[in-house]
Amino acid sequence: MSKQLFPPGFLWGTATSAYQIEGAVHEDGRGPSIWDDFCRIKGAIRDGSDGSIACDHYHRYAEDVALMRSLGVQAYRFSVAWPRVLPQGRGAINQKGLDFYQRLVDALLEAGIRPFVTLYHWDLPSALNAQGGWTNRDSAGWFADYAAVMVRALGDRVKDWITLNEPWCSAYLGYELGKHAPGYRDRTLAARAAHHLLLAHGMATQAIRAAGDAQTRVGITLNFAPNLPATDSEADRKAAAEAPDWLYEPFAEPIFTGAYNARVLEQLGGAVEIRAGDLATIATRLDFLGVNYYTATLISAERGVVNDDNPEYTLMGWQIRPQGLYALLMRLHHDTRGQLPIYITENGASFEDTVVDGHVHDERRVAYLRAHIAAVHRAIQDGADVRGYFVWSLLDNFEWDWGYQQFFGLVRVDYTTQARLIKDSGYFYREVIANNGLV
Ligand code: FCB
Repeated sequence: MSKQLFPPGFLWGTATSAYQIEGAVHEDGRGPSIWDDFCRIKGAIRDGSDGSIACDHYHRYAEDVALMRSLGVQAYRFSVAWPRVLPQGRGAINQKGLDFYQRLVDALLEAGIRPFVTLYHWDLPSALNAQGGWTNRDSAGWFADYAAVMVRALGDRVKDWITLNEPWCSAYLGYELGKHAPGYRDRTLAARAAHHLLLAHGMATQAIRAAGDAQTRVGITLNFAPNLPATDSEADRKAAAEAPDWLYEPFAEPIFTGAYNARVLEQLGGAVEIRAGDLATIATRLDFLGVNYYTATLISAERGVVNDDNPEYTLMGWQIRPQGLYALLMRLHHDTRGQLPIYITENGASFEDTVVDGHVHDERRVAYLRAHIAAVHRAIQDGADVRGYFVWSLLDNFEWDWGYQQFFGLVRVDYTTQARLIKDSGYFYREVIANNGLV
C-alpha cells in the first residue's frame, strides 16, 4: 500500500476525561459530582466500582505527561472537573482545585504538548443537580459562568476550548435511559436537559470568547454513529438517507443551522420551553467541531437496522466500521459548506489485553486505529477540513457504567499498583506521529 501522509501541521493527540482518570475525589476541597452519587446506586456500575481512585492521575499527572512526551504526542484533550474548581457549582472558587489544572497545563506546555480543554465531560456538581441540574434552564448560565472562570484562569496558556462532551449522552443516557448519572428515566426531563445543554453550549461559547483573546478558539464535541446503507442497492441507500439520526439531528443540526427540524421539535414535544433567541444562541459561530466516532449504524430497506452482518465487534459490542468515519466526515464537510474545521476528538477501541513477558500485543487495537486513520486520510484527500486526531484513550480508565471492564488505553494501567505499560498500539501510534501518517 502507498504511504498515507497527512498535511503538515496535522495534530496528533490523545484524550481522557477527569472522572475517568483523576481519582482524588475527596482531595483539596473538591465537591461531589453526580457520578460520585450515581456510582453509589446498587447495580448502576457493572463491577460495582467508582472513580474515587481511577488512574490516580491527580497525583501521577507528571508521569502521564512524560508518557505522552515519550510517544511524541502533540496535543492532549482532558476535561476539567467542574466540582473541583467550584465545589458548589457556582460561587466560591476552590483555588486548590484550580491549581491542579495550572500544574497540568504547565507540565503539558513544558513537554511541548498543546492542551485542548473540555469544560464538561459529565461530572456535574451534585449541588447543581439538587437544583434540577440540566433540567433547570438556569443551568445554561451556571455553565457559562464556570467557563469564564476557567478561561480567566488558564486562558493565557490554553487556546483550545471544548464546551461540552457528547450532550446526547448527558441528556438521553442520563435522564431518559438511566444508564448514566444522574440515572433518571423520564423523557420529559431528557428533552429539557437536551435543550438546556445546547443553550449552555451557546452561552459558554460567548463567555469563552469574551474572557479569551484573539487566539482563543471554541468548539463542541458531539458523538455520531451515522446511518450507512447495508448494501449499495438503491433501496438501501434511500432507506439510510431517510432514516432518522437521533445523534445528528437534535445536536449538530441546530448548531449548524439555528433550527430544530420538524422531527426533533416533535420529539422535544411540549416539554421544552424554547424562547425567542435560544436557537440563535445555540448556533453561535464556532471555530471547530469535535467529532467522536466509534461505530456506525447499518440500515437496510427490508430489515431496518442491521446488526448482524459483521463479526468484527469490539469489547463494547460496537461493530467496526471505518467507512462510517469517512462518510460522516464528508457529510459534515458538506453540511458546513467546508467552513468548520474538524478535529476527531475521540476514536479508539476496547479489547481485552494480556501481558506477555512485559508486553501487550494488542494487534486488534492497532488494526482498528490504522483503519480509522486511513479513513480520515481519505476524507482529507476528498476535501474534508480535518485538522487533528485524538486517540481515546491515553490510559485504560473508568469506563462509566462498565467500571474497569473496558480497555481503551494506548497505555495499560495495573489498578493494584498503578503501574503504566505502553501497549503495542502506543508504539504504533508513536510511529504514526513520527511519520505524520501511515507508511
Ligand atoms: C465516549 C465518551 C468517553 C468514553 C468513550 C468510550 O462516549 O466521551 O468518555 O467513554 O465513549
